[in-house]
Amino acid sequence: MNDQPTLSQRADALEEKMSRELDYIVIKSRLYSMAEGDMSPPPNAAALMAANPNARVLMGDDPRLPQMPEKPTLMDYFRCRFASTSHLLQSATHALKAGHSEKVVLACLLHDIGVVSFIRCDHGYWGAQMIEPYVDEEVAWAVKMHQALRFFPDESVGYTYPEMYRKLFGPNYKPEPYIVAEYERARNHKWYMTSRLITMNDVYSFDPSAKVNLDDFVDIVGRNFKQPKEGLGWDNSPSAHMWRTIMWPTRFL
Ligand SMILES: [Fe+2]
Ligand SMILES: [Fe+2]
Repeated sequence: MNDQPTLSQRADALEEKMSRELDYIVIKSRLYSMAEGDMSPPPNAAALMAANPNARVLMGDDPRLPQMPEKPTLMDYFRCRFASTSHLLQSATHALKAGHSEKVVLACLLHDIGVVSFIRCDHGYWGAQMIEPYVDEEVAWAVKMHQALRFFPDESVGYTYPEMYRKLFGPNYKPEPYIVAEYERARNHKWYMTSRLITMNDVYSFDPSAKVNLDDFVDIVGRNFKQPKEGLGWDNSPSAHMWRTIMWPTRFL
């Protein structure tokens, strides 16, 4: 019989050792455990602290993540919190080169911030809610509606159903009724084309070798994103709590 520890036993032992040595304990929010298909009750902070009495649960910065400045800007979130920003930069660069308005360029730059900072499901809605207090109404609307529009072709502007979706979702995927209803509302809206342009710049934006630079958008963001003087998250806007959660994703309460 082999009495070597299994891989998972070794991982458990390492985790236990780390929790004894670190001076902080991370208790995951429910969403993280659901993402693992885990329906067990949340870990007991007091029991974990019993094994390591000097440790505390996090009530602010997570030492494993890049340090945010005291008064963070949108650009700081791009640099310190958003993952894989190159898709956003490529989309915005594409819109810029095509000569679209600053509103459209900004909408392209921000269209998937829900995905890169927060959550995939309904990412258009989450992203729109995050930016709504800081951008022109049309930009937030366009980000929200790209959630639905990307599933529906518009031959008049040359937008076809993305081949990638056929691969990702299978050939039989049909958008749910709420998406269809949202599409119909968007289709007849005065800002339809702003949101449609997000989808048009989106599908051509997956080039891993493209050279893109966040600095190219500093001026457009400066002119079109109302950066709160207190720092994004500290400004008491209707979405400030969302930015704080992204700043402190492991805060205990
Ligand atoms: Fe998207
Ligand atoms: Fe996208």
